[in-house]
Amino acid sequence: MRWASVACAAGLLLALGLARYCSKRADAAARSALVAALPRNFPAPVYAPVPAREAFELGRQLFYDRRLAHDGTVSCASCHRQATAFASPERISPGVGGRRGRRNAPALQNLRWKHTFFADGGPKNLETLPLAPLTNPLEMGATLPSVLAKLNADPVYVRQFARAYGPGPITSYQLLRALAQFTAALISASSRYDRYVRHEAGGTLTAQELRGRALLQRKCSSCHATDLFTDDSFRNNGLSRSFPLDSGRVAITFLPADRGRFKVPSLRNCALTAPYMHDGRFATLAQVLAHYDHGLVDSPTLDPVLRQPNGRLGIPLTAKEQRELLAFLRTLTDSAFCRAPGLAAP
Ligand code: HEC
Ligand code: HEC
Repeated sequence: MRWASVACAAGLLLALGLARYCSKRADAAARSALVAALPRNFPAPVYAPVPAREAFELGRQLFYDRRLAHDGTVSCASCHRQATAFASPERISPGVGGRRGRRNAPALQNLRWKHTFFADGGPKNLETLPLAPLTNPLEMGATLPSVLAKLNADPVYVRQFARAYGPGPITSYQLLRALAQFTAALISASSRYDRYVRHEAGGTLTAQELRGRALLQRKCSSCHATDLFTDDSFRNNGLSRSFPLDSGRVAITFLPADRGRFKVPSLRNCALTAPYMHDGRFATLAQVLAHYDHGLVDSPTLDPVLRQPNGRLGIPLTAKEQRELLAFLRTLTDSAFCRAPGLAAP
């Protein structure tokens, strides 16, 4: 026991010394590693800045820190849980004081590839986005000055921010940018499907999964497109006749054509991210497929893709096709991402 801890401490000291000694090099190496890590099967990212290691680690710490909330009870990770690809397993997850909004907390993954965020595309910038949850009274209920005062009173944070951004009081720009360096680094691209398309070890799909893939390409990829499994557009997929509780994109654009249109979510990790849709109305993927097969309701902005030539709505799927689709969707699960120690609470 004692020897083990001595050896551990020695190892740690050595590691720390080495880390300091090599910090310049490591920084450069981390940068190039992150560039090289861009998945070959993805299109070009929208958000170009490459996270630097120091800022990423700082962002990670902030992401898991409940003290950022007004009453110290809620962190980003309270709603965005790593085990479920940073989505919430609850339909609507509570913010400070148990208050609840109206949307399901989605997976946080591959955000560098998005032009807009949220189900209605309100935020356009990954770096200013954290302002929304930090100050939303239903989420973390804080104000920027109060968060900055807390951080500036904490010598550990002051030191860490100085290492990432240079000396001086911590600013709101630094806080938001650090959080964005963590969220930008949440890249999920090592599912079995990814290994299959990149011809990597372990990348085999069964005949059933391959039939599911072909079905998805034929019936779903006009919206769930590319290897990101979304075209980042807003569509009405037939959930409601009039969208009384949440009308989606129209709240941002005020265009009647956008009523009931919501961001097409990625299907990556969807076997883990129940419940589904902007309001978390479906508890299982089987229910989602049943919706596409026979649950759609009509409205003026329903996506034309979901109108069949015979006047019926939806995407007809036999029981066998549904099993094949489900089998394929499960190949998009990236367990390495959901368990990566480097993305877990520090
Ligand atoms: C109380 C729960 C809650 C907390 C706390 C929370 N979020 Fe969220 N988050 C959500 C919900 C709900 C959405 C979807 C909002 C929408 O679509 O309108 C979301 C969406 C997002 C998105 C956009 C994802 C996308 O693909 O569009 C990002 C990024 C994000 N949150 C980051 C954060 C960060 C960073 C924090 C901490 C500063 C945080 N969240 C705290 C519930 C939460
Ligand atoms: C016309 C565009 C369109 C087509 C075609 C389409 N979807 Fe969707 N899909 C959407 C939109 C938009 C949402 C999100 C709606 C919301 O948030 O309320 C969605 C949501 C989903 C979700 C829930 C994801 C989540 O995280 O909540 C799954 C799963 C899904 N679709 C699977 C499929 C499958 C399988 C097919 C083919 C059988 C398909 N979709 C066809 C537009 C489409």
